[in-house]
Amino acid sequence: MLFQDPEGFLAEVEEIAALGAEQLMAYWRALDPDQINEKARNDLVSAADLASEKAIIGAIRSRFPDHSILSEEAGRSTPTDSGPTWIIDPLDGTTNFVHGIPQFAISIGIAVEGRIDFGVVLDPCKNDLFSAIRGHGARWNGGVCGVSERQGLSGALVATGFPFKAHSLLDPYLAIFRDVFLSCKAIRRPGAAALDLAYTACGLFDGFFEFQLSAWDIAAGLVLVEEAGGVISGMDGGSDFLESGNVVCGTPGVHRELLEVVASHRDDWQKKIEKIID
Ligand code: IPD
Ligand code: CA
Ligand code: CA
Repeated sequence: MLFQDPEGFLAEVEEIAALGAEQLMAYWRALDPDQINEKARNDLVSAADLASEKAIIGAIRSRFPDHSILSEEAGRSTPTDSGPTWIIDPLDGTTNFVHGIPQFAISIGIAVEGRIDFGVVLDPCKNDLFSAIRGHGARWNGGVCGVSERQGLSGALVATGFPFKAHSLLDPYLAIFRDVFLSCKAIRRPGAAALDLAYTACGLFDGFFEFQLSAWDIAAGLVLVEEAGGVISGMDGGSDFLESGNVVCGTPGVHRELLEVVASHRDDWQKKIEKIID
């Protein structure tokens, strides 16, 4: 571990997330329509995303000037070639936020020597704080955070996200959805991937799958899920999901069965993904 005092560092990450949260809550259910823009079709950015990001990046720059940043709206800044990288989603769940639906979060994952070692997901509406340090476990509001006891899809509550930015994946996605739906208890689509991962880590959901996420959606949740005793992988079972954005996770048994379903449709979704990449 690069940091001598990982708990002290995590506390600073939590403080910085709270600065972003303060900005979000200033705009909560008070956004004017002219404060909302479409980056791409159905992909929104609002004044709240930007204010949160500005507060978070400003605090990192003043406290940790040599750290690198990858943030959804501001992009990448790399003051030195080495050192930790903060991977930030200043508002995960923008569509929920602009519609006044209280399911959104700030997500901050920190990579140290290429591995995500710290994760913080903060839901300011519900005052839910999920945090993890690699090797030190995960916490939900300072208490225990562990995956559920679920052994497989039977009886499982599974979360997902729709491939709304990659409509070409819709048919293979629906085929996977159908098989999962028929095997589990119920499926939810809450609309904030960082919280879907955090809820899986703390046992509210038994598993989660989504295609075409971004690194900032996943970074914090990845260490939360792993430290909570869960398993997270790419749709192909591999470990390059921060790059691919195609994610399956859950308790060990739920992850295994989700992956079996995904594998049974692999020829279909892989062809579509290859086309998106080309
Ligand atoms: C989105 C949310 C959503 C997921 C999308 C993400 P944003 O993030 O996490 O649940 O389905 O793929 O882009 O745009 O609200 O930060
Ligand atoms: Ca996001
Ligand atoms: Ca976002």
